[in-house]
Amino acid sequence: MPHRLADPLSRRAVLRAGGVAFAATALGGTGLTAPAAGALKAGLADPAPVTASGDLVEVELVARQRMQRILPEPAAPSPLITYADSFPGPIVRMRKGQRLRATLVNELEEHTSVHWHGIRLPNLEDGVPYLTQPPTRPGERHVYEFTPPDAGSFFFHPHCNTVELLGRGLAGILIVEEPDAPKFDADVVCLVKDWQIDKSGSFGTFITDRGASRAGTFGSVSTVNGAIDPVIEVPANGDIRARFYNIDSTRVVDLRIEGAEAWIVAVDGNPLPPRPLDGWPMGPAMRIDVLFRAPAKAGQSLRLTNVYSAEPKPLATFRAIGPARPNKRFKPRALPAAGIPEPDLKNAPVIPMAFSATAVAQGFDAATIAGLPYADSLCLSEKTFWAINQQSWPEGGHERLPPPLVTLEKGRSYVFELANLTPHLHPIHIHGYTFKVLSSDGRKVVPHHADTVLLEPKERLRVAIKADNPGDWMFHCHIIEHQDTGMMGYIRVA
Ligand code: C2O
Ligand code: CU
Repeated sequence: MPHRLADPLSRRAVLRAGGVAFAATALGGTGLTAPAAGALKAGLADPAPVTASGDLVEVELVARQRMQRILPEPAAPSPLITYADSFPGPIVRMRKGQRLRATLVNELEEHTSVHWHGIRLPNLEDGVPYLTQPPTRPGERHVYEFTPPDAGSFFFHPHCNTVELLGRGLAGILIVEEPDAPKFDADVVCLVKDWQIDKSGSFGTFITDRGASRAGTFGSVSTVNGAIDPVIEVPANGDIRARFYNIDSTRVVDLRIEGAEAWIVAVDGNPLPPRPLDGWPMGPAMRIDVLFRAPAKAGQSLRLTNVYSAEPKPLATFRAIGPARPNKRFKPRALPAAGIPEPDLKNAPVIPMAFSATAVAQGFDAATIAGLPYADSLCLSEKTFWAINQQSWPEGGHERLPPPLVTLEKGRSYVFELANLTPHLHPIHIHGYTFKVLSSDGRKVVPHHADTVLLEPKERLRVAIKADNPGDWMFHCHIIEHQDTGMMGYIRVA
């Protein structure tokens, strides 16, 4: 395995956070302050934003296996795959306007890449093997560089063999801070993720025919930030911004902070007028930013629960610590508006996108797959259960990339009618764009922007984009077993 050299850091300020180097090269030679490694480890309750005066934030992502305890003893630590010394990590915080340079170092035994979920970035930085870049082979590096145009709560993950790699923890967090955001007493990150591990701490199967062809295979252990029912400390009586992420591969969650006044202030990083946290189901890859008031006295606590299932399930506890913050009236403040280009709905053609099961589940034998030049790149699973507009990924003879689902004219606006023809939920995600969510035939839609929308069984949901970002953009279900068994395609903007 290639070994990572010590960073040559003569003129750079560098902070190590969980083994990941944060460096800022500033024109004036000034450094960067980042959350202390301890704060990152402790549960991400980290009020200290990155305050680099420079324009560039550098991060190194070393993808490899690392042992980490998920289950208590006597179970053994589990063989996670991560980008940093521990899951979850790294958490990259930067200010809007700064440029990110991220170097992937592939110390895995398979090729990989980094996809920046939710970021409207140039197509070449999107991290989809073969579609937007050559796969990064074992032992290789790949540098991504872009300036995120929007503030918000984003994340990043691989885009091939995702069912196993994400299943084993390969994901990092990218937070882009608004320069003009209201001040909060704490800004905490809460990642909801289940793990498919047995009692001994070993990983089980990540994909099953039964799961892949239905709602997906559920993990056996639920965690927040990799810990079972953790306590997350927050300043007493403080106004807390919590960034909730569903980074599970399968599960839908509907979060509540019991007994607290809590307001959703952003969806997938996109601000919306504050609304009570009272029914916002999140499928895999979906995020909400929530503002809540911490308990008034140190030692008091609030429960974070998932009420999506019949029995509300406790996920974590927020416990108040320290001297109480001065009493002020709790008022949810709106975040500064995002600059997503407004689609011209009057002149937007409607593109139907139908999500369905394949008429006949297609199977490929292992020998055929092994002989295909693109088999690994296409993330070809042995079975296909799903399709978009009756096209399964990959299409045809599997010797090449399938054609795009649709080609859009650059600069024009489009409405997609997402039709769920199945009895299952599908969180539908588009790369490089943010949907304006318009309407549904089955429920009242709160107008908002999102990069991933949860399609209910049999629902037809309308979303719109202005096709201003050229390239080939993946479009798929984010239940990873569905994605890997056909519910994936791409949209070309030219
Ligand atoms: Cu987070 Cu193609 O997805
Ligand atoms: Cu799906």
